[in-house]
Amino acid sequence: MRKNIVAGNWKMNTTVPEGVTLAKEVNEKLAAITPKCDVIICVPFTHLCPVNEVINSEKLGLGAENCADHAKGAYTGEVSAAMVASTGATYVILGHSERRQYYGETSETLKEKVALAFENGLTPIFCIGEVLEERENGTAFDVVKKQIVDALFHLSAEDFSKIILAYEPVWAIGTGKTATDDQAEEMHAFIRGVIAEKYGQEVADNTSILYGGSCKPGNAKALFAKPNVDGGLIGGAALDAESFMGIVTAF
Ligand code: PGA
Repeated sequence: MRKNIVAGNWKMNTTVPEGVTLAKEVNEKLAAITPKCDVIICVPFTHLCPVNEVINSEKLGLGAENCADHAKGAYTGEVSAAMVASTGATYVILGHSERRQYYGETSETLKEKVALAFENGLTPIFCIGEVLEERENGTAFDVVKKQIVDALFHLSAEDFSKIILAYEPVWAIGTGKTATDDQAEEMHAFIRGVIAEKYGQEVADNTSILYGGSCKPGNAKALFAKPNVDGGLIGGAALDAESFMGIVTAF
């Protein structure tokens, strides 16, 4: 059966010393409990090696927030999937709405990134989600379906099964405006149906679909109680160990 997962997405926050301190705090708090979910932190590239040094990878997974769409070579400033994997990280967030919006990521580039992640043994946390206008004009479901179909449905069932999906309505990210648990459940159930149509019910049932967008300790319990919400991708609330753990323990 699918896993429950809480993953932090630190985005472009914390210096290396601050990030190491935060990772240590999360690691310590996790050591004291037996969480009912997998716990992951996705951190800036510069933080991967030093953070990997201070966490217990048995209890806390480590991921990057992006990787390049080329394997290696003359791509100044880019960081490859192989480089990410060589730090000890085992996850990578791909297709975050901020990457799509500000850095022009398309389904075509994301296909390359997913392939390179797999080649290097990284598990993609693949983000999808509509913008406010699409929610309001009733196209949210079509938009999300198209994001999945265009970037992922060329994969074999075996490869697709390795993906973690994160539904993040763009209008809820960093805005304090969470999707209601019913809105999240409605979209997650729809996504699972789309997967079932393509890969069959078993693959769909085994896919973890996380919710992201202003998820906090105060709303995580209600969101995670929904049958198709398998956890969260946490931005702002992951920057404080106490609030991140408040979400982890919502399961
Ligand atoms: P937020 O970000 O929790 O700060 O809304 C979530 C995300 O973008 O992954």
